Amino acid sequence: MLADHDEPAAAANPWALRWEARYRAGESLFGTAPNAFLAAQSGLLRPGMRALCPGEGEGRNALFLAGLGLSVTAVDFAPTALARAGARAREAGLDVTTILADLALWSWPEAAFDLVALIFVQLDAGERVAVHRGAARALAPSGLLVLEAFARGPARDCGPRGEASRYDVAMLREDFAGLEIVSLMEETTLLAEGAGHRGAASVVRLVARAPAQGRRREEESSASASA
Ligand SMILES: C[S@@+](CC[C@H](N)C(=O)[O-])C[C@H]1O[C@@H](n2cnc3c(N)ncnc32)[C@H](O)[C@@H]1O
Repeated sequence: MLADHDEPAAAANPWALRWEARYRAGESLFGTAPNAFLAAQSGLLRPGMRALCPGEGEGRNALFLAGLGLSVTAVDFAPTALARAGARAREAGLDVTTILADLALWSWPEAAFDLVALIFVQLDAGERVAVHRGAARALAPSGLLVLEAFARGPARDCGPRGEASRYDVAMLREDFAGLEIVSLMEETTLLAEGAGHRGAASVVRLVARAPAQGRRREEESSASASA
């Protein structure tokens, strides 16, 4: 079994085939340690929180969160990566559900997660907006979004070469307009995440929160009143 849930549309995206080939060519592409920016948010996380890791690859972040006692769902469209994530979780006795799906086509659960961790999920504009909206909707009231991505500007040692799938502060502000921004910045950092992310990188880092229960209801009713 490759994943706990398997959506056939995952294989239809040509990028899924490219990612699958990368994972088949080698293991632990981005290392086994969690992403440093996500790990730095540990103080905001509590056991029992429900976490979603879209584009989670081989599971390094999912395992880290599950190790903190969170109940984790990992989604990716590369079967080899997701199978590794599931196998590693089972070996460690950790609670990680895996879903094989294309995030751009996935039916994102609504208000179902206390944390959504989008770590280096670099998408072209059309997919990016749909995925980021899905991620925002998936947050429960007061849920937390943590995102790190390669930033626009000069390409450095790692990350996509073209600008099409790199992000900037303005894009993220617009994509996540319904959330309260806790912190949002672009910076240059040194990544040491397996062979896949090694060296200097320009990144954009976001922590944001969904509105609390009452405020979300008010916003939804004023949106439907003005529609
Ligand atoms: C750079 S890797 C990061 C993996 C993981 N988040 C990490 O930090 O180790 C990007 C991941 O996003 C996945 N991905 C990209 N586009 C996707 C899509 N449309 N649907 C599902 N997964 C996608 C790729 O298969 C890959 O595993």
